[in-house]
Amino acid sequence: MAVKFADRMENLKASEIRELLKLTEKPEVISFAGGLPAPELFPVEEMKEVAIKVLEEGGKQALQYAATEGFIPLRKAIANRMNTKFNTDVTYENILITSGSQQGLDFSGKIFLNEGDVVLCESPSYLGALNAFKAYGPKFIEVPTDENGMIMEELEKILETTENVKMIYVIPDFQNPTGRTWPVERRKKFMEIINKYEIPVLEDNPYGELRFEGEILPSLKAMDEKGLVIFLGSFSKIFCPGFRIGWVAANKEILEKYIMIKQSADLQTSTVGQREVAKFMEIYDLDAHVEKIKDVYRKRRNLMLETMKAEFPEGLKYTYPEGGLFTWVELPSNIDAKDVMAKCLENNVAFVPGGSFFPNGGKDNTFRLNYSNMTEERIVDGVKRLAKVLKEFI
Ligand SMILES: Cc1ncc(COP(=O)(O)O)c(C=O)c1O
Repeated sequence: MAVKFADRMENLKASEIRELLKLTEKPEVISFAGGLPAPELFPVEEMKEVAIKVLEEGGKQALQYAATEGFIPLRKAIANRMNTKFNTDVTYENILITSGSQQGLDFSGKIFLNEGDVVLCESPSYLGALNAFKAYGPKFIEVPTDENGMIMEELEKILETTENVKMIYVIPDFQNPTGRTWPVERRKKFMEIINKYEIPVLEDNPYGELRFEGEILPSLKAMDEKGLVIFLGSFSKIFCPGFRIGWVAANKEILEKYIMIKQSADLQTSTVGQREVAKFMEIYDLDAHVEKIKDVYRKRRNLMLETMKAEFPEGLKYTYPEGGLFTWVELPSNIDAKDVMAKCLENNVAFVPGGSFFPNGGKDNTFRLNYSNMTEERIVDGVKRLAKVLKEFI
Protein backbone atom coordinates (compact mmCIF):
# COMPACT_ATOMS: atom_id res chain seq x y z
CA MET A 1 0.00 0.00 0.00
CA ALA A 2 1.37 3.45 -0.91
CA VAL A 3 -0.23 5.15 2.10
CA LYS A 4 2.35 6.74 4.41
CA PHE A 5 1.58 6.85 8.11
CA ALA A 6 3.05 9.19 10.73
CA ASP A 7 6.36 8.10 12.27
CA ARG A 8 4.65 7.64 15.64
CA MET A 9 2.75 4.67 14.25
CA GLU A 10 6.11 2.88 14.20
CA ASN A 11 6.01 2.96 18.01
CA LEU A 12 2.75 1.03 18.06
CA LYS A 13 3.15 -2.60 17.07
CA ALA A 14 0.28 -5.10 16.84
CA SER A 15 0.67 -7.30 19.85
CA GLU A 16 0.89 -11.08 19.74
CA ILE A 17 -0.80 -11.06 23.14
CA ARG A 18 -3.81 -9.28 21.69
CA GLU A 19 -4.13 -12.02 19.07
CA LEU A 20 -3.91 -14.64 21.79
CA LEU A 21 -6.51 -12.85 23.90
CA LYS A 22 -9.04 -12.90 21.07
CA LEU A 23 -9.20 -16.65 21.61
CA THR A 24 -10.22 -16.11 25.24
CA GLU A 25 -13.56 -14.61 24.20
CA LYS A 26 -15.11 -17.98 23.28
CA PRO A 27 -17.87 -18.81 25.83
CA GLU A 28 -16.32 -22.18 26.72
CA VAL A 29 -13.12 -20.47 27.88
CA ILE A 30 -12.84 -19.65 31.59
CA SER A 31 -11.04 -16.35 31.25
CA PHE A 32 -8.97 -14.78 33.99
CA ALA A 33 -7.42 -12.63 31.28
CA GLY A 34 -9.43 -9.38 31.05
CA GLY A 35 -9.91 -6.74 33.70
CA LEU A 36 -13.67 -6.59 33.40
CA PRO A 37 -15.98 -5.84 36.32
CA ALA A 38 -18.76 -8.35 37.14
CA PRO A 39 -21.67 -7.37 34.86
CA GLU A 40 -24.26 -8.87 37.21
CA LEU A 41 -23.45 -6.01 39.61
CA PHE A 42 -24.31 -3.22 37.15
CA PRO A 43 -27.37 -1.26 38.40
CA VAL A 44 -29.38 -1.73 35.21
CA GLU A 45 -32.87 -1.14 36.65
CA GLU A 46 -31.70 1.91 38.61
CA MET A 47 -30.08 3.38 35.49
CA LYS A 48 -33.33 3.01 33.51
CA GLU A 49 -35.06 5.16 36.11
CA VAL A 50 -32.12 7.60 36.20
CA ALA A 51 -32.11 7.97 32.40
CA ILE A 52 -35.81 8.87 32.37
CA LYS A 53 -35.36 11.38 35.21
CA VAL A 54 -32.43 13.08 33.46
CA LEU A 55 -34.43 13.46 30.25
CA GLU A 56 -37.63 14.55 31.98
CA GLU A 57 -35.95 17.08 34.24
CA GLY A 58 -33.62 18.68 31.70
CA GLY A 59 -33.69 16.77 28.43
CA LYS A 60 -32.74 19.73 26.28
CA GLN A 61 -29.58 20.51 28.26
CA ALA A 62 -28.74 16.83 28.61
CA LEU A 63 -28.66 16.42 24.84
CA GLN A 64 -26.80 19.68 24.14
CA TYR A 65 -23.05 20.49 23.97
CA ALA A 66 -21.68 21.58 27.32
CA ALA A 67 -18.52 22.92 29.01
CA THR A 68 -15.24 21.09 28.36
CA GLU A 69 -14.45 20.88 32.09
CA GLY A 70 -17.57 18.78 32.71
CA PHE A 71 -20.91 18.93 34.52
CA ILE A 72 -20.42 20.99 37.70
CA PRO A 73 -22.61 18.84 40.03
CA LEU A 74 -20.64 15.77 38.95
CA ARG A 75 -17.29 17.56 39.47
CA LYS A 76 -18.48 18.66 42.94
CA ALA A 77 -19.54 15.12 43.82
CA ILE A 78 -16.15 13.78 42.68
CA ALA A 79 -14.17 16.40 44.65
CA ASN A 80 -16.23 15.59 47.73
CA ARG A 81 -15.72 11.85 47.25
CA MET A 82 -11.95 12.23 46.77
CA ASN A 83 -11.63 14.37 49.90
CA THR A 84 -13.63 11.88 51.96
CA LYS A 85 -12.04 8.69 50.64
CA PHE A 86 -8.49 9.70 49.79
CA ASN A 87 -7.81 12.59 52.23
CA THR A 88 -7.27 15.13 49.45
CA ASP A 89 -8.15 18.80 49.53
CA VAL A 90 -9.58 19.52 46.08
CA THR A 91 -12.57 21.50 44.81
CA TYR A 92 -14.58 21.02 41.64
CA GLU A 93 -12.27 23.56 39.98
CA ASN A 94 -9.45 21.02 40.23
CA ILE A 95 -11.48 18.40 38.34
CA LEU A 96 -11.75 17.78 34.59
CA ILE A 97 -14.10 15.02 33.41
CA THR A 98 -12.47 12.72 30.83
CA SER A 99 -13.61 9.78 28.70
CA GLY A 100 -12.41 7.18 31.17
CA SER A 101 -9.10 7.59 32.96
CA GLN A 102 -7.55 6.09 29.82
CA GLN A 103 -8.05 9.47 28.13
CA GLY A 104 -6.22 11.13 31.03
CA LEU A 105 -3.29 8.81 30.37
CA ASP A 106 -3.16 9.72 26.69
CA PHE A 107 -3.44 13.44 27.49
CA SER A 108 -0.59 13.13 29.99
CA GLY A 109 1.65 11.79 27.25
CA LYS A 110 0.58 14.60 24.95
CA ILE A 111 1.16 17.28 27.59
CA PHE A 112 4.48 16.16 29.06
CA LEU A 113 6.39 14.03 26.56
CA ASN A 114 8.68 14.96 23.71
CA GLU A 115 10.27 12.17 21.70
CA GLY A 116 13.11 10.64 23.74
CA ASP A 117 11.97 12.01 27.12
CA VAL A 118 12.16 9.61 30.03
CA VAL A 119 9.10 8.18 31.81
CA LEU A 120 9.62 6.28 35.06
CA CYS A 121 7.15 3.57 35.98
CA GLU A 122 6.81 0.61 38.30
CA SER A 123 8.19 -2.65 36.96
CA PRO A 124 5.76 -4.13 35.89
CA SER A 125 3.08 -1.53 35.05
CA TYR A 126 -0.34 -1.12 33.37
CA LEU A 127 -0.06 -2.05 29.71
CA GLY A 128 -2.76 0.41 28.60
CA ALA A 129 -0.81 3.32 30.06
CA LEU A 130 2.49 2.17 28.55
CA ASN A 131 0.81 1.94 25.14
CA ALA A 132 -0.78 5.38 25.52
CA PHE A 133 2.62 6.92 26.31
CA LYS A 134 4.41 4.97 23.57
CA ALA A 135 2.68 7.02 20.86
CA TYR A 136 4.76 10.01 22.07
CA GLY A 137 8.06 8.14 21.73
CA PRO A 138 9.47 8.25 25.28
CA LYS A 139 12.10 5.99 26.82
CA PHE A 140 10.84 3.98 29.76
CA ILE A 141 12.92 3.33 32.84
CA GLU A 142 11.39 0.69 35.06
CA VAL A 143 11.84 1.24 38.77
CA PRO A 144 12.29 -2.09 40.60
CA THR A 145 9.48 -3.14 42.96
CA ASP A 146 8.98 -5.53 45.86
CA GLU A 147 5.83 -6.78 47.59
CA ASN A 148 5.19 -3.21 48.81
CA GLY A 149 5.40 -1.53 45.41
CA MET A 150 8.09 0.80 44.06
CA ILE A 151 11.41 0.64 45.93
CA MET A 152 12.32 4.15 47.01
CA GLU A 153 16.11 3.63 47.16
CA GLU A 154 16.00 2.47 43.55
CA LEU A 155 13.90 5.46 42.55
CA GLU A 156 16.39 7.82 44.15
CA LYS A 157 19.32 6.13 42.42
CA ILE A 158 17.62 6.51 39.06
CA LEU A 159 16.70 10.15 39.64
CA GLU A 160 20.25 10.98 40.74
CA THR A 161 21.73 9.61 37.54
CA THR A 162 19.12 10.23 34.84
CA GLU A 163 18.61 13.37 32.76
CA ASN A 164 15.32 14.42 31.31
CA VAL A 165 12.84 12.52 33.45
CA LYS A 166 9.57 14.21 32.50
CA MET A 167 6.98 12.13 34.31
CA ILE A 168 6.59 9.34 36.87
CA TYR A 169 3.62 7.02 36.38
CA VAL A 170 2.46 5.02 39.42
CA ILE A 171 -0.51 2.96 40.64
CA PRO A 172 -0.04 2.84 44.44
CA ASP A 173 -3.39 1.12 45.19
CA PHE A 174 -4.00 -2.50 44.12
CA GLN A 175 -1.80 -2.08 41.12
CA ASN A 176 -2.59 -3.45 37.70
CA PRO A 177 -1.08 -6.01 37.05
CA THR A 178 0.30 -7.11 40.46
CA GLY A 179 -2.47 -6.17 42.94
CA ARG A 180 0.19 -4.63 45.22
CA THR A 181 -0.36 -1.56 47.42
CA TRP A 182 2.25 0.88 48.72
CA PRO A 183 2.20 1.30 52.53
CA VAL A 184 1.86 4.83 53.95
CA GLU A 185 5.55 5.13 54.87
CA ARG A 186 6.54 4.44 51.30
CA ARG A 187 4.08 7.04 50.04
CA LYS A 188 5.59 9.62 52.37
CA LYS A 189 9.11 8.79 51.26
CA PHE A 190 8.04 8.96 47.62
CA MET A 191 6.63 12.45 48.08
CA GLU A 192 9.82 13.57 49.84
CA ILE A 193 11.83 12.47 46.84
CA ILE A 194 9.38 14.00 44.37
CA ASN A 195 9.41 17.33 46.17
CA LYS A 196 13.20 17.35 45.92
CA TYR A 197 13.30 16.64 42.18
CA GLU A 198 10.01 18.40 41.28
CA ILE A 199 8.84 15.94 38.66
CA PRO A 200 5.16 15.54 37.75
CA VAL A 201 3.59 12.35 39.10
CA LEU A 202 0.66 10.59 37.51
CA GLU A 203 -1.19 8.80 40.31
CA ASP A 204 -3.54 6.38 38.56
CA ASN A 205 -6.17 5.23 41.03
CA PRO A 206 -9.13 3.31 39.59
CA TYR A 207 -9.08 0.60 42.31
CA GLY A 208 -8.38 2.44 45.61
CA GLU A 209 -11.97 2.27 46.86
CA LEU A 210 -12.14 -1.49 46.29
CA ARG A 211 -10.34 -2.36 49.52
CA PHE A 212 -11.52 -5.64 51.04
CA GLU A 213 -9.75 -5.30 54.39
CA GLY A 214 -8.55 -2.40 56.51
CA GLU A 215 -8.74 1.32 55.79
CA ILE A 216 -8.26 3.13 52.46
CA LEU A 217 -4.77 4.66 52.53
CA PRO A 218 -4.18 8.38 51.92
CA SER A 219 -3.42 9.07 48.28
CA LEU A 220 -0.20 10.65 47.06
CA LYS A 221 -2.35 13.63 46.06
CA ALA A 222 -3.21 14.05 49.75
CA MET A 223 0.52 14.52 50.51
CA ASP A 224 1.19 16.81 47.56
CA GLU A 225 2.55 20.12 48.83
CA LYS A 226 3.89 21.48 45.57
CA GLY A 227 1.06 20.65 43.16
CA LEU A 228 3.10 17.96 41.39
CA VAL A 229 0.60 15.08 41.64
CA ILE A 230 -1.96 14.57 38.91
CA PHE A 231 -4.62 12.14 40.15
CA LEU A 232 -6.52 10.03 37.61
CA GLY A 233 -9.84 8.65 38.82
CA SER A 234 -12.54 6.55 37.24
CA PHE A 235 -16.12 5.31 37.63
CA SER A 236 -15.29 2.18 35.62
CA LYS A 237 -14.55 -0.14 38.52
CA ILE A 238 -16.77 1.37 41.26
CA PHE A 239 -19.80 1.84 38.97
CA CYS A 240 -19.82 0.86 35.25
CA PRO A 241 -17.13 1.21 32.59
CA GLY A 242 -19.73 1.65 29.82
CA PHE A 243 -20.24 5.32 30.67
CA ARG A 244 -16.57 5.97 29.96
CA ILE A 245 -16.37 8.57 32.71
CA GLY A 246 -13.15 9.30 34.51
CA TRP A 247 -11.43 12.43 35.75
CA VAL A 248 -8.17 14.30 36.18
CA ALA A 249 -7.62 16.09 39.50
CA ALA A 250 -4.72 18.53 39.46
CA ASN A 251 -3.72 22.02 40.49
CA LYS A 252 -5.25 24.71 38.31
CA GLU A 253 -2.13 25.57 36.33
CA ILE A 254 -1.66 21.96 35.25
CA LEU A 255 -5.39 21.32 34.80
CA GLU A 256 -5.55 24.24 32.31
CA LYS A 257 -3.29 22.23 29.98
CA TYR A 258 -5.52 19.17 30.25
CA ILE A 259 -8.62 21.30 29.53
CA MET A 260 -6.99 22.74 26.39
CA ILE A 261 -6.05 19.27 25.15
CA LYS A 262 -9.50 17.89 26.00
CA GLN A 263 -11.11 20.67 23.99
CA SER A 264 -9.10 19.85 20.90
CA ALA A 265 -9.49 16.07 21.35
CA ASP A 266 -13.27 15.75 21.73
CA LEU A 267 -14.67 19.05 23.11
CA GLN A 268 -16.18 17.32 26.16
CA THR A 269 -17.29 14.00 27.65
CA SER A 270 -20.90 12.95 26.90
CA THR A 271 -23.31 15.46 28.50
CA VAL A 272 -26.05 12.93 29.04
CA GLY A 273 -23.67 10.32 30.46
CA GLN A 274 -22.25 12.78 32.98
CA ARG A 275 -25.74 13.82 34.06
CA GLU A 276 -26.81 10.22 34.50
CA VAL A 277 -23.85 9.36 36.70
CA ALA A 278 -24.43 12.54 38.75
CA LYS A 279 -28.14 11.70 39.08
CA PHE A 280 -27.35 8.16 40.26
CA MET A 281 -25.10 9.61 42.95
CA GLU A 282 -27.85 12.06 43.93
CA ILE A 283 -30.72 9.59 44.33
CA TYR A 284 -28.87 6.36 45.15
CA ASP A 285 -26.05 5.56 47.53
CA LEU A 286 -22.83 4.94 45.59
CA ASP A 287 -21.08 3.89 48.81
CA ALA A 288 -23.64 1.11 49.32
CA HIS A 289 -23.12 0.03 45.72
CA VAL A 290 -19.33 -0.09 46.22
CA GLU A 291 -19.88 -2.23 49.34
CA LYS A 292 -21.86 -4.73 47.23
CA ILE A 293 -19.04 -4.89 44.68
CA LYS A 294 -16.46 -5.38 47.42
CA ASP A 295 -18.44 -8.23 48.99
CA VAL A 296 -18.55 -10.12 45.71
CA TYR A 297 -14.90 -9.48 44.78
CA ARG A 298 -13.64 -10.32 48.26
CA LYS A 299 -15.34 -13.72 48.01
CA ARG A 300 -13.90 -14.30 44.55
CA ARG A 301 -10.41 -13.27 45.62
CA ASN A 302 -10.59 -15.62 48.60
CA LEU A 303 -11.81 -18.47 46.48
CA MET A 304 -9.18 -17.95 43.79
CA LEU A 305 -6.32 -17.78 46.30
CA GLU A 306 -7.59 -20.72 48.34
CA THR A 307 -7.88 -22.84 45.22
CA MET A 308 -4.43 -21.74 44.04
CA LYS A 309 -2.99 -22.68 47.42
CA ALA A 310 -4.60 -26.12 47.29
CA GLU A 311 -3.96 -26.92 43.63
CA PHE A 312 -0.86 -25.09 42.33
CA PRO A 313 2.47 -26.92 42.31
CA GLU A 314 4.86 -26.06 45.16
CA GLY A 315 7.22 -23.13 44.90
CA LEU A 316 5.20 -20.67 42.82
CA LYS A 317 5.07 -17.09 44.08
CA TYR A 318 1.89 -15.03 43.90
CA THR A 319 0.56 -11.84 45.43
CA TYR A 320 -2.20 -11.60 48.04
CA PRO A 321 -4.06 -8.42 47.02
CA GLU A 322 -6.06 -6.61 49.72
CA GLY A 323 -8.34 -5.15 47.06
CA GLY A 324 -8.71 -4.49 43.36
CA LEU A 325 -9.07 -7.06 40.61
CA PHE A 326 -5.81 -8.96 40.13
CA THR A 327 -3.22 -11.36 41.47
CA TRP A 328 0.19 -11.86 39.90
CA VAL A 329 2.03 -15.14 39.58
CA GLU A 330 5.77 -15.74 39.19
CA LEU A 331 6.93 -19.04 37.65
CA PRO A 332 10.45 -20.47 37.76
CA SER A 333 12.62 -18.29 35.50
CA ASN A 334 13.04 -20.93 32.77
CA ILE A 335 9.30 -21.11 32.01
CA ASP A 336 7.70 -18.73 29.51
CA ALA A 337 4.11 -17.92 30.53
CA LYS A 338 3.21 -17.59 26.82
CA ASP A 339 3.90 -21.31 26.38
CA VAL A 340 1.78 -22.06 29.44
CA MET A 341 -0.99 -19.87 28.01
CA ALA A 342 -0.97 -21.74 24.69
CA LYS A 343 -1.42 -25.01 26.55
CA CYS A 344 -4.09 -23.48 28.81
CA LEU A 345 -6.11 -22.40 25.81
CA GLU A 346 -6.25 -26.03 24.70
CA ASN A 347 -7.84 -26.64 28.11
CA ASN A 348 -10.20 -23.65 27.80
CA VAL A 349 -8.68 -21.51 30.51
CA ALA A 350 -6.85 -18.20 30.00
CA PHE A 351 -4.78 -15.46 31.70
CA VAL A 352 -2.52 -12.64 30.50
CA PRO A 353 1.17 -13.54 30.16
CA GLY A 354 3.18 -10.95 32.10
CA GLY A 355 5.95 -10.02 29.64
CA SER A 356 4.07 -7.15 28.02
CA PHE A 357 3.64 -5.34 31.36
CA PHE A 358 7.40 -4.69 31.30
CA PRO A 359 8.01 -1.88 28.78
CA ASN A 360 11.62 -2.92 28.22
CA GLY A 361 10.85 -6.64 28.00
CA GLY A 362 12.03 -9.59 30.04
CA LYS A 363 10.29 -11.38 32.90
CA ASP A 364 8.34 -13.72 30.64
CA ASN A 365 7.93 -16.10 33.59
CA THR A 366 5.03 -14.07 35.03
CA PHE A 367 1.29 -13.81 34.48
CA ARG A 368 -1.76 -11.86 35.67
CA LEU A 369 -4.99 -13.42 36.92
CA ASN A 370 -8.28 -11.52 37.21
CA TYR A 371 -10.87 -12.68 39.75
CA SER A 372 -13.68 -10.10 39.32
CA ASN A 373 -15.33 -11.32 36.15
CA MET A 374 -15.88 -15.08 36.55
CA THR A 375 -18.52 -16.73 38.76
CA GLU A 376 -17.36 -18.62 41.82
CA GLU A 377 -17.94 -21.99 40.20
CA ARG A 378 -15.87 -21.01 37.16
CA ILE A 379 -13.08 -19.64 39.37
CA VAL A 380 -12.64 -23.00 41.09
CA ASP A 381 -12.94 -24.96 37.86
CA GLY A 382 -10.56 -22.59 35.99
CA VAL A 383 -7.87 -22.57 38.68
CA LYS A 384 -7.95 -26.38 38.75
CA ARG A 385 -7.47 -26.53 34.97
CA LEU A 386 -4.65 -23.99 35.20
CA ALA A 387 -2.97 -25.94 38.00
CA LYS A 388 -3.07 -29.09 35.92
CA VAL A 389 -1.27 -27.36 33.04
CA LEU A 390 1.27 -25.78 35.41
CA LYS A 391 2.11 -29.22 36.81
CA GLU A 392 3.01 -30.35 33.29
CA PHE A 393 5.55 -27.51 33.05
CA ILE A 394 7.05 -27.71 36.51
C1 LIG B 1 -4.46 1.07 36.15
C2 LIG B 1 -5.52 1.44 35.17
N1 LIG B 1 -5.61 2.69 34.74
C3 LIG B 1 -6.55 3.07 33.87
C4 LIG B 1 -7.46 2.18 33.35
C5 LIG B 1 -8.48 2.68 32.37
O1 LIG B 1 -9.75 2.75 32.93
P1 LIG B 1 -10.95 3.60 32.39
O2 LIG B 1 -10.52 4.29 31.12
O3 LIG B 1 -12.06 2.66 32.15
O4 LIG B 1 -11.26 4.59 33.46
C6 LIG B 1 -7.42 0.84 33.76
C7 LIG B 1 -8.36 -0.13 33.21
O5 LIG B 1 -8.35 -1.30 33.47
C8 LIG B 1 -6.41 0.46 34.70
O6 LIG B 1 -6.29 -0.80 35.13
